Amino acid sequence: MAPSLPTSILLLFAVAIAFALNVTAATSPSPPAPEDGIRVVSAEKRIDLTGPIVKVFLTLKVHNPATSSDASHILITFTPAEAQHLAIVKATRAEGKRKKKVYVPLPVQPVDLAADVPNGARLYSVSLSAPLRPTETTTLEVFYVLTHSLEPFPAEIAQSESQLVYYRDSAVLLSPYRVLEQVTYLKTPSNRVESFTRVDPTARSGPEVKYGTYKDQLPYVYMPILVHYENNHPFAVVEELVRKVEISHWGNVQVTEQYKLKHGGARHKGVFSRLEYQSRQSISGASSFKNLLARLPPRVHSVYYRDEIGNISSSNLRSDSHKSELEFEPRYPLFGGWHCTFTIGYGMALQDFLFGSEDGRRFANLTFGCPLLNTVVDNLTIKIVLPEGSKSPQAVVPFLTEQHLETSYSYLDVVGRTTVVLKKKNVVGEHNVPFQVYYEFNPIFMLAEPLMLISAVLLFFVACIAYLHVDLSIGKSQTS
Ligand SMILES: *[C@@H]1O[C@H](CO)[C@@H](O)[C@H](O)[C@H]1NC(C)=O
Ligand SMILES: *[C@@H]1O[C@H](CO)[C@@H](O)[C@H](O)[C@H]1NC(C)=O
Ligand SMILES: *[C@@H]1O[C@H](CO)[C@@H](O)[C@H](O)[C@H]1NC(C)=O
Ligand SMILES: *[C@@H]1O[C@H](CO)[C@@H](O)[C@H](O)[C@H]1NC(C)=O
Repeated sequence: MAPSLPTSILLLFAVAIAFALNVTAATSPSPPAPEDGIRVVSAEKRIDLTGPIVKVFLTLKVHNPATSSDASHILITFTPAEAQHLAIVKATRAEGKRKKKVYVPLPVQPVDLAADVPNGARLYSVSLSAPLRPTETTTLEVFYVLTHSLEPFPAEIAQSESQLVYYRDSAVLLSPYRVLEQVTYLKTPSNRVESFTRVDPTARSGPEVKYGTYKDQLPYVYMPILVHYENNHPFAVVEELVRKVEISHWGNVQVTEQYKLKHGGARHKGVFSRLEYQSRQSISGASSFKNLLARLPPRVHSVYYRDEIGNISSSNLRSDSHKSELEFEPRYPLFGGWHCTFTIGYGMALQDFLFGSEDGRRFANLTFGCPLLNTVVDNLTIKIVLPEGSKSPQAVVPFLTEQHLETSYSYLDVVGRTTVVLKKKNVVGEHNVPFQVYYEFNPIFMLAEPLMLISAVLLFFVACIAYLHVDLSIGKSQTS
């Protein structure tokens, strides 16, 4: 029994209304941002999965429609898991045309929005140097680094096996804006890609997997993908690094770095065979590592490298006018889950690092981060031990760090040395940037240590003279 004509028209209407309601329901949880009108005209996301650390390059062409108002910032979005492993995020804006194009760095800050954002997405705000006016289009380059985001699977491997890892992301760009056109590229270190999620159109050619082009995506669309591939790069994780920088106005800066290093990849299974390791190095222990490279400042001296047993001589220092490179080996190769602890120390010339500022203070210009290349530092502590008598220290670091003051003591110290302590979690190579510690210092304190030494020597002589005097008088009494 077919429905009568009016009934079918009614049905059609109902479906149309339901559809309309559904569309509004899908778009309504859009961000409470004032830039609601902004569109991402095109987005390209390039994910570098070749190392132990994930690096993402995002190019966003954003457009502010005529009906909208000036936009002072652009929002970028991370999933809760990404936000937790986000080590650094940087943004630049291309200004000027063609050959005169320059990339202006822009500040990026997390946005604290209440629960309104779908799926717990975390928003970061990129502040534009000049507001984006209606009808204008601009291009942003965003770069971010994710640590501990490659999950070894299988989680345990034998000495002869390759390391395979999982990487999770979204095929489409997670964004608070409508994205008109978007493509994602993943680059793996080798052609060995075991599997990857398909979200058509998806294509793979050698070590590259391409997702997209996708057209006209609604805000906050997320399409999970999983890539399973081979990654034998050393997963060197510094669980803890304490760097102590002692400044002496007598001409030296002494640096002592204590490392707690771990191989953060797939755990080693079974017994370690050194014979197999040495005879078949190309295939045995492919994911293990034994060489470490530290990039130190130029003109370092008295470099040493030791562990809990003693000095290790198997290190090699190369120096030029820009840097010194210390190549060294732990006592045994590191396999997944293995640890080693060691200390590196070196001296640097004071005049390369200590300067006078215009306001009469002194400042040390040092490098943040960790000198070991391609490592993640879970917990970094930098202690800057200022000379005795230093006052009002102030650290200037270009990103957020936890800071406090301590007092440390060494030989001949009377009141102790003011020590600035900086702490940061989740540190990567991009954090190796200059930072400064300013402080006030009265040169009279330079005399404190020599004066103490001189008085000690004087005291010694006085004691000697007194003793000799006593001795002589005894001698006299004997001869007389
Ligand atoms: C409503 O949207 C959901 C997904 O958001 C979709 O699965 C469903 O087919 C839509 N219904 C209609 C009538 O469009
Ligand atoms: C280790 O090397 C340092 C610096 O070269 C030296 O001062 C120290 O005496 C050495 N220690 C041992 C145990 O050899
Ligand atoms: C600190 O040193 C770096 C080079 O190592 C230099 O580019 C920078 O300008 C210096 N900063 C200050 C404040 O002197
Ligand atoms: C290092 O940081 C991790 C997590 O950030 C924490 O669980 C661990 O206890 C820290 N280790 C030390 C020695 O502080």
